[in-house]
Amino acid sequence: MRIDHLEARAILDTRKKPTLETTISANTFTATASVPSGKSTGSHEACELRDSDGSVASAIKNVNEEIAEAIIGKRFESLDELDSFLIELDGTPNKSRLGANAILSVSIAAMRLSAMLKDVPLWKAISERAGTKPQAPRLFVNVMNGGVHADFKLPFQEYMLVVEGKTSEALPIVQEIFAKLGERLGDVPMGDEGGYAPTFDTIEKPFEILTDLIKEYPSVSIAIDAAASELFHNGSYELLNKTYAPEELTSIYGSIVSQFPIHSIEDPFSENSGEDFAKLMAQLNSPSTRLGATTILVVGDDLTVTNPARIKTATENKELNAVLIKPNQIGTVKEAIEAVQATYAAGFQAIASHRSGETMDTFIADFAYGVGAHGIKAGGLGQKERLEKYKRLLEIEKEA
Ligand code: PGA
Ligand code: ZN
Repeated sequence: MRIDHLEARAILDTRKKPTLETTISANTFTATASVPSGKSTGSHEACELRDSDGSVASAIKNVNEEIAEAIIGKRFESLDELDSFLIELDGTPNKSRLGANAILSVSIAAMRLSAMLKDVPLWKAISERAGTKPQAPRLFVNVMNGGVHADFKLPFQEYMLVVEGKTSEALPIVQEIFAKLGERLGDVPMGDEGGYAPTFDTIEKPFEILTDLIKEYPSVSIAIDAAASELFHNGSYELLNKTYAPEELTSIYGSIVSQFPIHSIEDPFSENSGEDFAKLMAQLNSPSTRLGATTILVVGDDLTVTNPARIKTATENKELNAVLIKPNQIGTVKEAIEAVQATYAAGFQAIASHRSGETMDTFIADFAYGVGAHGIKAGGLGQKERLEKYKRLLEIEKEA
């Protein structure tokens, strides 16, 4: 591939914060990609370059000047070669010089362009690049928002419905339950990820409501993202104005799992608490405490930050059995694929994920399908940027 044009500009994400949209051209073909932005970010993530005024002007300048000058006219034999070139051009361990947001916008746009040049669907190009078997991911649909995404009205950040089966079967089921939940909750605001943001005064209440709503749907279970790094202060965790030691939080998870149909728990402890993850893993999935035949997934997000080296450590230490994959935590498609490969090499599940600040870009849907992910987190049904990902999954189902 020989790139003839590269240009980035600012667009607004779902929180009305600026982010990059980048267009790349080769051989009269043009592809565009935009990058999302997190709020409950892990401190080990690659660096999103943001100026002191909140803008992404420097990141845009880096694409339009330094990156454009370095790659336009140069021949790249593969997308991996291009991504490696970008990593080296940046030259820092966490992409802090050019910005992971700047680099990823180029990396995704180039991947999309390459699929166009080959005339194959993006998910197929991703599966060929990753050496993975494409598969429809389970939907993890965020229906109630708490934590930093809703002013801590609920203790945990995300309450999701997990639906077995392909998107065309799963989506109508979630739409039905989401509408029923809306009627039950009445007039409540929406959180950052397009789910409802109600207020409850017990930890159990959201689980009781969801369990009741899903009881007639055998293909549906509940997932949470505790996003516990945001709850962690001076060695303990704060939930609904009460403080819990790690062991007490472990007991809370045990109690939730024993009462409600829980599929997975993401970031149950803070980003540097791998030992507590390992204890929870052993407890939830030991034969005596396990409910039914299904293993409860303990999912790493801030713990692993889509970083192949961190994933290797976490899997070796039995800290988790599933890994969230967010391309913008690491900054290139190449490394996001390596993160999936590291997860699969350990025999665990990958869940592809959007960010809380999203755009209309649907790359994550193709990525989830192409790498054959166990699931996809794409948010609630109350925002068009989230719905776009579900729409793309429906399209992929027809293309496949
Ligand atoms: P973020 O939240 O995009 O704000 O980090 C999503 C998550 O924690 O999974
Ligand atoms: Zn998370």
